[in-house]
Amino acid sequence: MNRANQFFDKFLKNFDKVSDNEKKRIFERLSDLCYSQNTIIENLEEGIVSIDINGIIQGINKKACFLFSIPRNCENEPLSKYLSDSETGKIILELIKENDSDTKLLRDDDNKRILQINIFPLGESGRIIGTLIKAFDITQTYENSQKLKRAEQLASLTTLAAGVAHEIKNPLGSISIYIQLIEKIIKKNIDNSSQCFSELKDYCAIIKEEIGRLEDTINSFLFSVRKLELNLEETNINSLILSTIDFLKYEIENNNINMEIKFDRDNLIMRIDERYIKQSLINIIQNAIDSILEKSEKNYKKEIQIKLKTVDNFALITIKDNGIGIKEELLPKIFEPYFTTKRHGTGLGLTNVARIIEAHNGNINIESEYKKGTKVIIKLPLMQENQKFLKTDLLYG
Ligand SMILES: Nc1ncnc2c1ncn2[C@@H]1O[C@H](COP(=O)(O)OP(=O)(O)OP(=O)(O)O)[C@@H](O)[C@H]1O
Ligand SMILES: [Mg+2]
Repeated sequence: MNRANQFFDKFLKNFDKVSDNEKKRIFERLSDLCYSQNTIIENLEEGIVSIDINGIIQGINKKACFLFSIPRNCENEPLSKYLSDSETGKIILELIKENDSDTKLLRDDDNKRILQINIFPLGESGRIIGTLIKAFDITQTYENSQKLKRAEQLASLTTLAAGVAHEIKNPLGSISIYIQLIEKIIKKNIDNSSQCFSELKDYCAIIKEEIGRLEDTINSFLFSVRKLELNLEETNINSLILSTIDFLKYEIENNNINMEIKFDRDNLIMRIDERYIKQSLINIIQNAIDSILEKSEKNYKKEIQIKLKTVDNFALITIKDNGIGIKEELLPKIFEPYFTTKRHGTGLGLTNVARIIEAHNGNINIESEYKKGTKVIIKLPLMQENQKFLKTDLLYG
């Protein structure tokens, strides 16, 4: 017998002897206690229902009404009245009937929630007087753990795929060399003006093109799964942008694209990994070129603008095109690995760009309007963290 029971036992035995004032005081305290306990139960994150031995609802809190879609003021009604119409409800009634106290996870009928259900017998003086049903909405926790599990599975699958991709690279290299040898033999031994020679030449070109595509896909994939290790060096950003444009100049000129360059800062020196930032810029400018080529509008002034400026402690590089743009519903997907709208795209371009920019403690934003064009904004800190430390060391050293 606990202390409260002992107290009530004593109180009832001596009921006639207790003064009216004392009784009033005790009842007031009891009423306060009841009120505060009800408030706690009412506001619990867990849904709680108690039923008597005949299945009649004795008490129910707000959360249980919500989780089981039971109206308030349902006390003294059978619980089965509210639960027997739903699949989940039927399972709960069955658990109550069987007095199954194991923790159960149930998905509600419209698949919105996952509920953790516990059934406890309620006892008094050694006999069962009813049942307590506890329901806890664990959807978020459950989904998070599922996501984590999937991420782990994906990580091991990625490691496996990276191994396979690596294994494909070597024979691909050999195939490439042998095709070149075959080309040489063809040139040497087959009449250059014959039909056979031109057909073999075309077939070799196709094989080489396909090998090139496969190599690009494998390289992008391997790059996207490998740990990014930056080799930060003082780099002139202006020169880097110019050399990137130079790298793509044939495509730009052949397609009559007007390239406008505006540098608000000359010779901006930043500590970056030149190779990776160049790779990112190539990706973005290539996307801009592709988007311009995709626009079917005839004779329009094809334009790409590249701007560099500094704002506070950041360098802003903006690449704007007036190409096909991105449909609003597709915009949230463009950084997802393997998302592409192109026939031969890997969909890893922007995934890798984002990784590179984030590794430099910067960020990338893309604004776009379908059929009007796209603006890519790269924000890079003028000083990397390790530089800040270096400067402080020098100051106090
Ligand atoms: N400047 C842009 N204009 C219009 N659409 C764009 C632009 N940049 C990106 N996109 C859209 O985002 C998608 C993903 O781009 P991402 O660079 O990641 O892959 P990709 O260009 O399709 O393939 P890859 O980079 O391997 O050639 C593109 O397929 C395209 O639909
Ligand atoms: Mg791309």
